[in-house]
Amino acid sequence: MNIELALAEELKNVLHELYQIDIQADASLVQPTRKEFEGDLTIVVFPYVKLARKAPDMVAKEIGDRLCERMDALTGYNVVKGYLNLSVADGYWLERLREGFADERYGLFAQREEAPVLIEYSSPNTNKPLHLGHVRNNLLGHSVSQILMACGHPVVQVNLVNDRGIHICKSMVAWLRYGNGETPESANIKGDHLVGNYYVVFDKHYKEEQAELIAKGLSEEEAAQQAPIMLEAREMLRRWEAGDPEVRALWEKMNQWVYAGFDATYARLGIHFDKTYYESNTYLLGKSLVQEGLDKGVFQRHEDGSVRVNLTDEGLDEKVLLRKDGTSVYMTQDLGTAQLRYEEFHPGKMIYVVGNEQNYHFDVLKLVLGKKLGKPFGDSIYHLSYGMVELPSGKMKSREGTVVDADDLMDDMFEEAKQSTESLGKFDFQPDEAAALYEMVGLGALKYFILKVDPAKNMLFNPAESIDFNGNTAPFIQYTHARIRSLLRKAAEQSVNVADALPDGLSPEGEEKLIVKKLYQYPQVVLAAGENLSPALIANYVYDLAKQFNHFYQETPIMRETDAAKRLLRLQISQWVANTLRNGMKLLGIDVPERM
Ligand code: ARG
Repeated sequence: MNIELALAEELKNVLHELYQIDIQADASLVQPTRKEFEGDLTIVVFPYVKLARKAPDMVAKEIGDRLCERMDALTGYNVVKGYLNLSVADGYWLERLREGFADERYGLFAQREEAPVLIEYSSPNTNKPLHLGHVRNNLLGHSVSQILMACGHPVVQVNLVNDRGIHICKSMVAWLRYGNGETPESANIKGDHLVGNYYVVFDKHYKEEQAELIAKGLSEEEAAQQAPIMLEAREMLRRWEAGDPEVRALWEKMNQWVYAGFDATYARLGIHFDKTYYESNTYLLGKSLVQEGLDKGVFQRHEDGSVRVNLTDEGLDEKVLLRKDGTSVYMTQDLGTAQLRYEEFHPGKMIYVVGNEQNYHFDVLKLVLGKKLGKPFGDSIYHLSYGMVELPSGKMKSREGTVVDADDLMDDMFEEAKQSTESLGKFDFQPDEAAALYEMVGLGALKYFILKVDPAKNMLFNPAESIDFNGNTAPFIQYTHARIRSLLRKAAEQSVNVADALPDGLSPEGEEKLIVKKLYQYPQVVLAAGENLSPALIANYVYDLAKQFNHFYQETPIMRETDAAKRLLRLQISQWVANTLRNGMKLLGIDVPERM
């Protein structure tokens, strides 16, 4: 048991004995003592003052006396205005260092036997390559998955591809009309970009055709409806739904191009899925769930023929679940997809990482499945909603001029990393090694900058700021890691064995102790990040740790220390910091270099 929890347990007992106050023993009742005060752990007594009917400082003193009597790890306390600051024996921190410094899996909890958390993220449409919004989505989904796994939860990562509908038919029509048989190989571009280009081509011709019709006297709406290219796309969709083999074959072919492109982007981002769902496979199950709702009388057939669900009692409105022509809408497939996932994995929780423009959609999904259809998994649905991400204006106009392409962005980050690393000089890397480093630093910068922000907030991604070696950035943390690894290599060269046992009686002091205490908190931070689904907690922790270590390293000799025991202690602390930086960054999907 960690000391916070042990203390909270004793606090519970002591409060009961002294004042008959009953509380829940929760580790969060015990905070690290603020730097300006003496002590290691602090308990705030204000919540108990009223029931104890004594002055705050008196209450703190009575609690402090009892706690110190009961717990060997405590050596004393002081009271500052209702804050009870407790001191922990030095030997305690020495033990923590001994346990922690060589633990490669520090901060990773053993996997529990429980229903998995199913997490859906990315979920692109097949008519366009991934863009900056998907990048935030992918990074969040990947990181939250890593964090949950670190907390010991079994996790199933899934993707959902919107592979059917009018959007992909538009790309297909444009390719048939204007493509001359072009393929990703013949054009030498990624398949997702190729198909995305034809989506743009469609739009261009569609606009032209509309303008012609308007010039002939049609209204805007009529023109939009009647433009020949649009009629072709609709016809294509109709044939698709009817299972026309020719259309299906083309659809199959173009979607495969797109998937190959997505796979390359995912691989570069370092993410993978345990399973990919396709809307074309789930919408029919969705339709059957709509029928189920009709049969149960919880959905209604509207006079225009559409099927709707009335959610006005829940503070929402009426929502269409099937169009009047019987075709499915976006919601239809989500009903089926959720059901399928439940049957396949029996998850305890289903997390959907999707932008906040779909908040309403997920409110409805949860209500329809839970309250209306009475599905056991309705309540387990959780929408992890995130805000927009933009680049500073003028940065990286994409080929369409509006959205920022994910692949282009990664190329750009590679270049940024290259330039800033080269500008630091002193570089003796082989070309391959250098390229791997730029990729690690460039992508690390991108990931960290996005993940350190609370997902709910809109944000600006600033490439130059993200790569600043002295800021709250991945490169700063990566550099700190590389510095420690170089220190440890130097120790090995001088035949110092960092794994040697520390002598008794020696304890971390001053900044050493502060770092050990910080390191000791890491597993709790991982748990908190898992509870809150918050990579930002990990990012902030890792940054603080790196900053703290750098300060220590500047002030304190390590290899120059002549007392061998002290040198060993500092090396072990350093190694523990390096491991923790590496493990923490891994939870953000970021690698750290051995040297840089
Ligand atoms: N493909 C959708 C879009 O691009 C996002 C899907 C989100 N996931 C879901 N289960 N509805 O807007």
